[in-house]
Amino acid sequence: MSKTAPKPKKAAAKDKAAAKQLVPIFVMGKRYDVPDSLTIQKALEHAGYQLVRGCGCRGGICGACGTVFRYPGGYRIDVGLACQTVVQPNMYIAQIPFFPGNKAAYDIESLPAVGATIAALYPEVFKCVGCGTCTRSCPMDIDVLGYISKAIQGDVAAVAEGSFDCVMCGLCAARCPAEEVQYNIAILARRLYARHLVPQAKHLAAAVKAVEGKAFDKAIRELKTTSVDELKKLYKALEVEPDMADEFWTPKNKAHLGE
Ligand code: SF4
Ligand code: SF4
Ligand code: FES
Repeated sequence: MSKTAPKPKKAAAKDKAAAKQLVPIFVMGKRYDVPDSLTIQKALEHAGYQLVRGCGCRGGICGACGTVFRYPGGYRIDVGLACQTVVQPNMYIAQIPFFPGNKAAYDIESLPAVGATIAALYPEVFKCVGCGTCTRSCPMDIDVLGYISKAIQGDVAAVAEGSFDCVMCGLCAARCPAEEVQYNIAILARRLYARHLVPQAKHLAAAVKAVEGKAFDKAIRELKTTSVDELKKLYKALEVEPDMADEFWTPKNKAHLGE
C-alpha cells in the first residue's frame, strides 16, 4: 500500500459526513435527497430540474420564484421565495411561477392620482375582509393588509409608500379569500404617485435629455463595432459600483456618461 493509502478513508469519512447533511424533500410528490444548505431553487437544480420559468434574479428581487410548501402532518401551507428559502427536511414543495391575477389596462398619463382611480380599476379592493393572510404570506414582510386598507381609504401616496418593497411575487393574491390582486393595486398606486404626485427627479430629467440629445450614440456605435475579444477585455476592466456606494458615486472614467 502506498503512503497515500489513508486518503481514501478520509475521503470516505468526508463523504459520509456530507451524506448526513442530505435532507429529503418532495417535489410534486417525488422524493429527492439534497444538501441541507441549499435554497429551494438550488435544491431543484441539484435534483435535476432545469429552471426555465419561475426563476429570474436569484437574489430576492424579481419575485419570479414564489413557492408554496407544507410539512407532513401539518395543515398549514407555508410560502416563500425559492431563491431565498433554505430547504427543511420533508418539505412538500410546489412553485407558482405565474399567478393569473386581474390586471387593469390604463394610460397612467390621463389618470387622476386619487383613490377613486384605484376604486374604478380595482373595485374588488372593497371586498377585503381584513383577514391579514396577505400580510402573513408576504416574503418581503410588507404590511399588505395595511396598504390595502389605505387603498380602500383612497390614500394613493400611502399605498405607494407602504408597498415600495413589493417584488410582485403574487403569493398574497394566491391566498387571498377576497381575490384581490394586491400587487397590481400597489403598482397602480406607485405609478400614480411617481407620475403625478412627487416632483420630477432632476437627475432623471437630465439623463432623459442626454439620451434625446444623442449623448450616448457615439459610445453605442463604438461598442457595436468592437470585437467580442475586445468587449471581454472592456467588461473585465469595467469599474464596478461598490455595494455600499452612496447616491453620489460616479465612475472615475466619465467618458461615456454623456456629461
Ligand atoms: S388576504 Fe385578501 S381579504 Fe385578507 S386582508 Fe389581505 S387583501 Fe384582505
Ligand atoms: S405584497 Fe404580495 S406580491 Fe408583493 S411581495 Fe408581498 S406577497 Fe409578493
Ligand atoms: S428568482 Fe428573483 S426573487 Fe427569486
